[in-house]
Amino acid sequence: MASAPAAAPAVTFQPGRRAPLPPRCTHSERGVSFDPGSAFYRSDSAPGRDLAVLAATLHRRRRPDPSAPFLCLDAMCGSGVRALRYLAQAGADFVWANDASDALHPVIVGNLSRFEPVPPEGQRRWVVSHLDATRLLAERYLRREYFDVIDVDSFGSEAEYIRAAFLALKIGGLLYLTSTDWRSARGYGGKCSLSSYGAYVLPVPYPNEIGLRMLLGGAAREAAMLGFHIKPVFSYYAYHGPIFRAMVQLCHGKEDGISNYGFICHCKSCGQSQTFGFDELGQISCGCANRTDATSITVVGPLWTGPLHDRSSITEMLNLAVEWGWAHTSENGVTLEKLLGTMIEESDPRLPPGYIRLDEIASRAKVNSPPLGTLIHSLQKEGYAACRSHIGANAVKTNSPISSCIVVAREIRNLR
Ligand SMILES: C[S@@+](CC[C@H](N)C(=O)[O-])C[C@H]1O[C@@H](n2cnc3c(N)ncnc32)[C@H](O)[C@@H]1O
Ligand SMILES: [Zn+2]
Repeated sequence: MASAPAAAPAVTFQPGRRAPLPPRCTHSERGVSFDPGSAFYRSDSAPGRDLAVLAATLHRRRRPDPSAPFLCLDAMCGSGVRALRYLAQAGADFVWANDASDALHPVIVGNLSRFEPVPPEGQRRWVVSHLDATRLLAERYLRREYFDVIDVDSFGSEAEYIRAAFLALKIGGLLYLTSTDWRSARGYGGKCSLSSYGAYVLPVPYPNEIGLRMLLGGAAREAAMLGFHIKPVFSYYAYHGPIFRAMVQLCHGKEDGISNYGFICHCKSCGQSQTFGFDELGQISCGCANRTDATSITVVGPLWTGPLHDRSSITEMLNLAVEWGWAHTSENGVTLEKLLGTMIEESDPRLPPGYIRLDEIASRAKVNSPPLGTLIHSLQKEGYAACRSHIGANAVKTNSPISSCIVVAREIRNLR
């Protein structure tokens, strides 16, 4: 697309209308001031917006044609804080800000109004509309208006918007997904997760990672249906809410196989988890001595079993955060250096899905919990991949079998 979308949405800011009052700017995120007004706004979500701005900025710089206008669409914008940050910080040339609630019109317009049309043609920098997100996205697709970044920050599950969002996204573009459907992630809503994401989920010891994998799996399935595949840029679980977020890139063509989409099996008897592909469905079992007890095996899926993040993208995001002075300052208790540093470690392709909680290792080893850093270091010395999880505070992500974790925990406590 050569220029910003010109089509008028159902309700837009009309230049002839009485000018909105200047925003009271009661809040600020990374130096950008705005007024949340009566919109749903959580300052706790600022780190999720930081990550989106960092990823969007890098995407703008890396595009095949960096001279083309960089277009963002915020489908559920609330106060418009994301739209504002995409304009002010990610260098968007144009942002479409939409929220179903037209009562938010003055708030959104007030926040975006500092961005005047660009001379000499007076190109609009933003548009505000109040449509259902699916209708808006479908209309953009029908008009062949494709965006570089689409952000859908919904309440509950957002599976219903994924396909329309992919249709309105440029190939190679970024889709930022949010789900607050913790019931499905934790296995309390098996039927809901099945209808939303096509995944049957039961409780396992790492439910919040399952929540991210369910979201990524749903996106992978929708992309495949349209003849594309996805690459997760980052996946982020935030305990407030709780909220599951994933930034995925829409990539050309179907993937060669279904290697990143499959089933996770957890054995309650021995605590071991394994991943199985579709071609291994008949072989799902655990090799432990207690396997005669069929109820000890829990199988969830299909969902995303590949890496949660793209290591090089996360590394670039951290470098940019350092360059902008965002890395070491804590926003709502989250330090980007620590978060992105952990995500870089989690991106090790040798790591399987899931994590093992320290208290589970300790109780099976019959010792006090080993210090997390010492356990990770010891497992690495044994040749395993091991790191912290940004999702579970007292947990280790590792390709070591749990039996080796137990041996190492005992060694740390000098019981062997
Ligand atoms: C979580 S809030 C958005 C918060 C905002 N993105 C932020 O970062 O502060 C979700 C918003 O989606 C809007 N919404 C709910 N259902 C919608 C739909 N089907 N289409 C468009 N907007 C919708 C709500 O009015 C609400 O403002
Ligand atoms: Zn077992």
